[in-house]
Order: sequence, then structure tokens, then C-alpha cells
Amino acid sequence: MGYANFNQYAEGIHTRLFSRAFIFQSRDNPDDIVTFVSVDVGMVDHGIKHSVIKQLQKIYSSDVINHKNVLLSGTHTHSGPGGFLQHLLYGLSTRGFLQTSFDPIVDGIVESISKAYENLQPGTISINKGSVLDASRNRSPSSYEANPEDEKKLYDHNVDTDMVQVRIDSAQGTPLGIINWFAVHPTSMNNTNRLISGDNKGYASMLFEYEMNPMARPGKGKFVAAFANSNSGDVSPNTKGAKCLETGESCELTGVCKGRSQKCVAFGPGINMEESTEIIGKKQFDEAFRLFQDEEKTLQQLSGFIKSSHMYINMSNYPVTLKDSSTNETKQKTTCPAALGFSFAAGTTDGPGAFDFTQGDTSGKNPVWRVFRNFIKAPSKEVVSCQNPKPILLPVGEMRLPYEWVPRIVETQILQVGSLFIIGFPGEITTMAGRRLRRAVKNKILETWNKLDDPHVVISALSNMYTHYVTTSEEYQKQRYEAASTLYGPYTLNAYLNQFEQLVDSLTLVNFGNFSLFCSRHLKSVCSQV
Ligand SMILES: *[C@@H]1O[C@H](CO)[C@@H](O)[C@H](O)[C@H]1NC(C)=O
Ligand SMILES: *[C@@H]1O[C@H](CO)[C@@H](O)[C@H](O)[C@H]1NC(C)=O
Ligand SMILES: *[C@@H]1O[C@H](CO)[C@@H](O)[C@H](O)[C@H]1NC(C)=O
Repeated sequence: MGYANFNQYAEGIHTRLFSRAFIFQSRDNPDDIVTFVSVDVGMVDHGIKHSVIKQLQKIYSSDVINHKNVLLSGTHTHSGPGGFLQHLLYGLSTRGFLQTSFDPIVDGIVESISKAYENLQPGTISINKGSVLDASRNRSPSSYEANPEDEKKLYDHNVDTDMVQVRIDSAQGTPLGIINWFAVHPTSMNNTNRLISGDNKGYASMLFEYEMNPMARPGKGKFVAAFANSNSGDVSPNTKGAKCLETGESCELTGVCKGRSQKCVAFGPGINMEESTEIIGKKQFDEAFRLFQDEEKTLQQLSGFIKSSHMYINMSNYPVTLKDSSTNETKQKTTCPAALGFSFAAGTTDGPGAFDFTQGDTSGKNPVWRVFRNFIKAPSKEVVSCQNPKPILLPVGEMRLPYEWVPRIVETQILQVGSLFIIGFPGEITTMAGRRLRRAVKNKILETWNKLDDPHVVISALSNMYTHYVTTSEEYQKQRYEAASTLYGPYTLNAYLNQFEQLVDSLTLVNFGNFSLFCSRHLKSVCSQV
């Protein structure tokens, strides 16, 4: 699952896939409980989550396990099984839904959560931050360049090199596990691979767990190390960059060689894909283990509320208010019914598409594909204008036959563990879009909770539901692969910024149960209406 390559059948195992579950419960208030799960799969969706919750609710009360307080996040390995998602588009390359993929994924997640629950014990949670250089590279740099100069100046790199890590210890001081977030695509194993693999993320987990559980077979030890993904939408592990297969010239900016995307391929640092997986996995492990050992004494203990907030939203018409910062004029826009642009079919340099599509196509001129597209479904005028300048290949939001092609109703979620806020993001978000999201959420927290001075905000991407990519509106204009795959139009990110700010508001409400105290500090207008 990931490359959408019809010929990529599984033929064996490179590394096994695991589900790693962590439950955080408040000591003072046992009803305050949240579950974070990192799963070695491409992504998860509502079908998976629904079945997991349903099975667990046979064992545990619905206060302990529910849709609101459980977050399931895929590591985004591109070498896991396919065919387990419920929307039509994601099952095309496996020629439909596969119960044999779905059941083991659900059972594994259920088992990992049950084990975590049985193992609940008093302990401490702390957080540490580091940085990993040379393990990632922006695969759509021309798209990143479209962002405002002032904003780019705030950062040293066109990918996030930050690593955030949570460490969990028992009250006796025994280390129990870590959750690590670093943004990079697990596409070290390329689209010719036939072996099931956790890719660089799975390899980093194995190294860490082997270090902590030296006598145990993989996945059988006590210590659990999860390497989750973050804003990796435009981030490749193939650090040598994209080259033309025939000439060896760089094709990073255009994504094509002699007009064809298949000839422009990115390569990792190793001599082959297995070695590249090990190198990129080891770089993540090395920094993670350094943070774990905390020689610099930067580990900071987390304390405070354990809460969650959660909402389903209709992404076909989410209202967005745009403000022009020079004139203060506001404009009302909305997101659009989902559509994929022509450049979606070009794929990326991590896994070029099968046909003669190219990245950065804003014209959609290819006449053969237009005819083919119209044969499947011509987009309505409204969708064409709403999605502008995306030339529409597949108006998937308007395609219902024989059943929904992509999600329209989308899940959004924040888990709060003290001053750590985990954004459950329902898709792949690019570097700059992710930075904007973290900034917006952090500012909102600071604005509404004057007591909390250092909130940590992380994005856990590929969570709960899969809706392709999200770019900034400036990147959207470029229509590279990521932008062509930004389903709900140019203001998709603006909608999520607004939505996750609202989730912070709802966390504020649950945190400050004392309503009058809360009202005197925040949201006066809402309170006076109440
Ligand atoms: C995949 O990696 C192998 C080496 O392991 C290499 O021979 C092959 O060219 C790569 N293919 C693509 C499409 O990246
Ligand atoms: C979502 O919004 C679209 C566009 O306004 C509408 O047609 C559709 O019925 C809505 N879906 C739900 C479940 O409300
Ligand atoms: C826009 O609004 C801000 C904040 O209310 C204000 O400081 C600024 O002067 C306004 N700018 C214009 C051009 O009206």
C-alpha cells in the first residue's frame, strides 16, 4: 500500500509489522484516559478504527475506549499490505478490498491496546527534542519555494529536521517505552520491493527495542519504541535526490526526464534499498537513543490534564474566512468537493506513476486523458471553479458509484497529555503546511490558557482517516503531486487551521470545568450568550 503499483505483489518478509499502543490515564481522575497507537501500515481509516473500537468495547467500557480518546496513526510504510481501506480509490491497486489484510491489522491493534491496558501502572512521562540532519530531503522544492519569503526566513531548512520524543518510565524508574515523531516518508524500500517491511521507521523501532530488550525476539520484549510520522507530505528519505535514469542528471525541480516522470527517480544514501532503509532508520534511532539517554539533561517531565477533543467535519464545504493582512478585508471561501489533479497520476520521484503524466501540470491538456476522464466522470462546473487552478483528473468527491471513492466526512482529533498536544491529522501534510498548523494550535493554546507557558504541539500524520495530501495555498498554485493530491481545494489547510483551533477551544472547555472562572478569562461573548 502506497505506491499504487499494480505489479507490486508481496512475496515474503523483510521486517515484521507491529502495532504499538500507549495508554495515558490521569492519577487523580481515572476517567481521563487517552490511547495513542502507532501502526506499521501505510495509513488507517474509519473502517479500521470502527472495528477496533467495536471489538475493544466488548471488553472495556466505552468511557475507556471510544472514537474520541483513541488515536490510530499509521507510520506510512509503503511496503505494508494493501486492500484494507474502505474507499474505492485506495483499493484499486489491489483490485478491491482484502479481508486477509484487514483482519490481521484490526486484530493486531486490538491486541496491542489490550496489552497496554493490562500493563497500566503509575509512572512518569517526559519530553525531549532533538534534530536529525541528512535523513530527509524535500522532494518538491519548487513547490516549497512558492511560500512567502518572510515565512521561509523563519526556518533553516525546507524540511523539518526536528525530532520530538516522549519517554515513559514506571514509578520505580524502569523505562517502559518511547514515542518518537520525525517527518520523513518511509519510502526507502522502493516500488520494486516485494517484501513486507516497516521501512526506515520500522527499522528504527527494531533497533531501539533490540537495545532495550536484547534477549527478546522482535516485538516480544517489554520495552516499546514507536517511530511515528509527522509533516512528511513533501519529505523523501532518498537523500541523493532525483536523477534521470539514463543521463544521471538531476531532475528534482521538474520531476521529468525527456518529458516522462517514470525516468526521474530519487535514490537513497545506500547502495541498494535495503541499505538505504538501514541508514535512514539508524539515523533516526541514533538521535532517539541520544534523547532517551538525556546526557544533556533536557528531559522535561509532563504534568497536567489528560484530555481529548474530537470532531467529524464535512470537508466538501467547510467555510473559511481569509483576511488580507495589508487591508484587513475579509473574504468568505469554502473547501470543495474532493478532486485529484492531473499531476496526481504523475506520482513522485519516490514512486513515479505508470502513465505519461507529469508534475506541475496546471493545464491538464493531455487530450487522451481528458476523454478517458470524461468517460469515467466529467467534473461539474462548480468543482472546476472551486478547485482552480487544479486541472481535474478525477472528481472523486462527485463519484459515488459503485460506492464512495474518497472520504467526504473527515475525522479531526487532539489528544492532550499534560502540556503535550498530539494532533491526529487525517492525511499527509507538507513541511510548511505542518509548521503553520503547529503555530496556529500553539498560538491558540497560549491565547486561551494564560497559565500554560510552554505547550508542545506535535502532528501525528496519517491518523484515523486517509485523505491524501494537504499543502499551503501557495504550494497549491504549483500543482506538483502533493498539491494535485490536496483533495478539498486551495483552502484545505485554512479549513484545518480553523478546525484544530476549534478543537483547542473545546479542550479549554473540558479542562476548565469551573465555567464561571473560565468565562471570566475567555470567550466572554459565548459565555454571555449562555
Ligand atoms: C529500487 O532499488 C534497487 C536497488 O535496491 C534499484 O536497483 C532500482 O533501480 C530501484 N528502482 C526504482 C524504481 O527506484
Ligand atoms: C457535505 O456537504 C455537501 C456539500 O454541501 C453536501 O452535499 C452533503 O450532503 C454534506 N454531507 C453531509 C453528510 O452532511
Ligand atoms: C488591521 O487590524 C489591526 C488589528 O486590529 C490594526 O492594528 C491595523 O491597523 C489594521 N490595518 C488596517 C490597514 O486597517
